[in-house]
Amino acid sequence: MENKIEHIKNEAVKELATASDKESIKALSVRYLGRKGVITQFLRNIPGLPPEERPVAGKKANEAKKFLDAAFNEALKELERASAADDRIDVSLPGRTPSRGFLHPITEITRQICDIFTRLGFDIAEGPEVEKDYYNFEALNIPKNHPARDMQDTFYVSEDIVLRTHTSPIQVRVMEKQEPPVRVIAPGKVYRCDSDLTHTPMFHQVEGLLVDENISFGDLKGMLTTFVHQMFDTRTSLRFRPSFFPFTEPSAEVDILCVMCRGKGCRVCSQTGWLEVLGSGMVHPAVFEYAKYDTARYTGFAFGMGVERIAMLKYGIDDIRKFFENDFRFLRQF
Ligand code: PHE
Repeated sequence: MENKIEHIKNEAVKELATASDKESIKALSVRYLGRKGVITQFLRNIPGLPPEERPVAGKKANEAKKFLDAAFNEALKELERASAADDRIDVSLPGRTPSRGFLHPITEITRQICDIFTRLGFDIAEGPEVEKDYYNFEALNIPKNHPARDMQDTFYVSEDIVLRTHTSPIQVRVMEKQEPPVRVIAPGKVYRCDSDLTHTPMFHQVEGLLVDENISFGDLKGMLTTFVHQMFDTRTSLRFRPSFFPFTEPSAEVDILCVMCRGKGCRVCSQTGWLEVLGSGMVHPAVFEYAKYDTARYTGFAFGMGVERIAMLKYGIDDIRKFFENDFRFLRQF
């Protein structure tokens, strides 16, 4: 009897020596110590042995059980230790790539617009977002109580201070400081009390101003055509539509051929085939008066465009609010 239990134990030890993974060690443990295991079975059969053999057999079997239980546990622990050590030295694991920052699509498009105009000889100008009524309206030929103020839903900070409703006040600030020739491009945030699928209370504009001798509407058309061809492509034709701004005369709104349907008519262009992208015109002499420019000598043109609008057309985005929700899944696409 003693020999038999010794034999079982030795067999188990031998098998354990060849078990190289967790699963096979666990299987061994079940086979010897499980509910129907060899040793368990042996213990269960002890009551059937001759009475004098029972005590020794029971003692031996329990010892073997304890011994094997410890041996299996130790083997499992050893495996874990080995795999932990493996982790420490596994230089073949791919590293964790740090996530790199990138520019917001609005910043990206603003820079593209500014780059195109800097190559055309324009300087960059800036102005304050909290602006005097004088620069935002008055000096742009929009006097107090002028109906044109209703065109823009203004946020008033006080009687004389507003959140600028457009980047055009930068025109006035530049002309105040600088004599012609002037060639500036002015990007920045603007604010209007308006909010829906295509309007947000804050958005971005880029303003352009060019003043020199003998500047004509033809120069305006040429400059904007070059811009649109570079921003989109040379197949994108332009259409100048008569319009009104108090600070330009004549004024024109510029449409481009729909970038989605190429003029066939679709949802984006409301079946017209054209998309409005900017406002423009020849600087009104009254604005030059405020800047004390010689209106007999100088003429110029100005234009203003919405950056979000350009970005939406360029990337095919249909909801302006996406730019400001900061959903990483949206932003990372650009
Ligand atoms: N400031 C005008 C607007 O916000 C755009 C514009 C700029 C029009 C310059 C003409 C000249 O709508």
